[in-house]
Amino acid sequence: MTHPYLRPRRLRATPALRRLVAETRVSPAELVLPMFVREGAAGPVPIASMPGVVQHSRDSLRRAVAEAAEAGVGGVMLFGVPERRDAEGTAACDPGGVLNVAIADAVAEAGDALVVMADLCLDEFTDHGHCGVLAADGTVDNDATLEVYARMALAQAEAGAHLLGLSGMMDGQVAAVRAALDEEGRTDVVLLAYAAKYASAFYGPFRDAVESTLTGDRRTYQLSPSNGREGVREAMLDVAEGADIVMVKPAASYLDVLADVAAVSEVPVWAYQVSGEYAMVEAAAANGWIDRDRAIEESVLAIRRAGAEAVLTYWAVELAERLRRDA
Ligand code: PBG
Repeated sequence: MTHPYLRPRRLRATPALRRLVAETRVSPAELVLPMFVREGAAGPVPIASMPGVVQHSRDSLRRAVAEAAEAGVGGVMLFGVPERRDAEGTAACDPGGVLNVAIADAVAEAGDALVVMADLCLDEFTDHGHCGVLAADGTVDNDATLEVYARMALAQAEAGAHLLGLSGMMDGQVAAVRAALDEEGRTDVVLLAYAAKYASAFYGPFRDAVESTLTGDRRTYQLSPSNGREGVREAMLDVAEGADIVMVKPAASYLDVLADVAAVSEVPVWAYQVSGEYAMVEAAAANGWIDRDRAIEESVLAIRRAGAEAVLTYWAVELAERLRRDA
């Protein structure tokens, strides 16, 4: 017998074979586009650290939501940038607040063509920039924050959001929001728990995108990058509290956590390819240091391969369009 007689390269020989044996695929329906809408903006405002991403005006948001639906993406995740902030994040619960108006606009534009999702967190709405309200000593008050999240959830449900993304990392937030929705008869609203959300440097460009006022960090509520097992525990707790979907965030630096959560979860597992992951590829590509299109595809494919069934990514529409063209 000639050696070698086991030849794995056989399956890599042609594009047709490689396509046929691909274990993991990415399709438009599994991609979710995060979007920013800025109160009072007359038109789209570029975000310097996220080339190609903008803060939308009401009009440009509607156009971009229509474009996302046309591209076949699974959903859009909305973030609001309010004109005024206060200690309690009041605008988050106001039906006329920027995010709640944007939800209604997106639902009016997209109908049932995609899932309209809203970020449920206070950091864009508080003048101190934390994800919750503060106690007298300046620490984040977990249980007082739960009451505000419950009201915010009802406002978002009222505005028409199909899914709420609970990204604040307060203990008990899923149970608190679920109870508030159930009490109002809103048993239809899907809850996505940012179950394993790490205190990450890779959120840097997002803070520009929402004009964050935060000084300091979120290490008393977001997970430590050192802890994988704790990420799995957080996901399990959120499922027990009634989460319909759990998420790991960021994605690239936490693929091990993603795989561990996917191995045990009874509900869908998603991942968020965050602003810093986006900015790094864009910056390197702008310098001619990497092949932009290949890097985008490879990075999203890796997140799917690690176990995410859907991926939030700022490239969602571009990638969906490319996948459809190449299909
Ligand atoms: C909090 C929130 C953040 C992101 C999504 N939701 C920022 C943070 O926790 O500081 C980051 C997303 C990204 O970096 O793309 N509402």
